[in-house]
Amino acid sequence: MSKTDFQCTACGYQSPRWVGRCPACGNWDSFVAAKAVSNRKSAREGSALHSLTEVAAEDARLPTGITEFDRVLGGGVVPGSLVLIGGDPGIGKSTLLLQTAECLCGRGTVLYATGEESARQVSLRAKRLGIRGANIYIASETDVDVIKEHIASLNPAAVIIDSIQTTSRSQVQAVPGSVAQVRECAAEFQQVAKGTETPVFLIGHVTKDGILAGPRLLEHAVDVVLYLEGDRHHNYRILRGVKNRFGATDEIGVFEMREEGLVDVPNPSALFHGARQEEAVVGSVVVPTLQGTRPLLVEVQALVSANPYGMPRRMATGYDVNRATLLIAVLDKKVGLKLGHCDTYINAVGGVKITEPAADLAVAVAVASSYREAAVLPGTVVVGEVGLTGEVRPVNALNARLKEAAKLGFRRAVVCAAREVQDYLETVQVDTLGDALEAALE
Ligand SMILES: Nc1ncnc2c1ncn2[C@@H]1O[C@H](COP(=O)(O)OP(=O)(O)OP(=O)(O)O)[C@@H](O)[C@H]1O
Ligand SMILES: [Mg+2]
Repeated sequence: MSKTDFQCTACGYQSPRWVGRCPACGNWDSFVAAKAVSNRKSAREGSALHSLTEVAAEDARLPTGITEFDRVLGGGVVPGSLVLIGGDPGIGKSTLLLQTAECLCGRGTVLYATGEESARQVSLRAKRLGIRGANIYIASETDVDVIKEHIASLNPAAVIIDSIQTTSRSQVQAVPGSVAQVRECAAEFQQVAKGTETPVFLIGHVTKDGILAGPRLLEHAVDVVLYLEGDRHHNYRILRGVKNRFGATDEIGVFEMREEGLVDVPNPSALFHGARQEEAVVGSVVVPTLQGTRPLLVEVQALVSANPYGMPRRMATGYDVNRATLLIAVLDKKVGLKLGHCDTYINAVGGVKITEPAADLAVAVAVASSYREAAVLPGTVVVGEVGLTGEVRPVNALNARLKEAAKLGFRRAVVCAAREVQDYLETVQVDTLGDALEAALE
């Protein structure tokens, strides 16, 4: 026997003696005697050296045919790439990839390996989505080696694995979904993808905290990581790039979930800013954000309520709560709003997530608007980054944002000072947060 005789079935940790509790993952009673785990062939067999110039490198992307999906992928899927799509349960991952299979099956066969549902369930969904797909082959299979045999015999144009957490290899003594299995299976699919130049789409589960279940290594092992997000109570779904070896990561794709499946939303700006731009609403501000190359107008709402007794609560949906806390501190210290005894709630409308600092000023104005019970002037958008000294800093692509706001009927913008602002609408340039509140609120 080798030096390491026991292995944790949950995380793959190896130990020279049996232990009751795994020191790595904390699971109890998970140690079994380890057999030789990996019999993967050495990559060195037959490997040859190539000069960079002699390797053919035409950019032969396969468009999936779903415009919003292609936008996030950077124009289509690169042959031989491993694409991981994560998302909450029931958000529409299987739907998206079944629709992708339909679009790709014009180029050859598509293998859809499902460990989550039976072939009948997949076919019921396909019927609902209006997918005929004679070229789509369903394998109700979880064993990676069997899936690899199917790939070898079918030679498909694309492979879809639903989901990576249900697949396993018999050589690995760990339960499906465990760190050891996920790592091993992902490595196998990576080899298949690279070896056969076939794009492989993996569906991944996310944990309660919204990160991909399994080892962090999974994200390193794949070429593209995308998250399908959305509010379960809204029909809109946002596909967001987190990692992309072949394209930008800040692009988003927007879909609407309908009975017939996910439908592209080519012009999503109008969806997230509400229809109340002509009303004076306290605590509501519209911010022209930039998602990738695309401007997107989002309504930010804030509610400030007095809490003279306990610790003030700060909650944010669709916005970083730590950033919100920082802005509240700046409002307190630099503008003199006594928010120390107030609960503050912040919400980005429609299930969007705002990650860029350009939304700082809008969030701060929304909070001040609710605190002072003063509405933002009708038809006004607000954009700028807020610094710790209460200064308003410039944002990138200001003119693209203002153009989109003007297109959607906004007439006025409170913005950071910038050198060249085109007059799509009336702009008020401000240097400090205090000036911004003066300019934006009634
Ligand atoms: N008849 C229908 N009409 C409209 N929407 C539907 C219908 N049936 C299902 N849906 C939508 O499809 C979603 C389920 O999609 P799907 O099974 O692709 O999700 P998933 O992310 O693969 O889920 P899981 O994590 O369970 O695998 C539902 O949450 C619902 O929004
Ligand atoms: Mg599914």
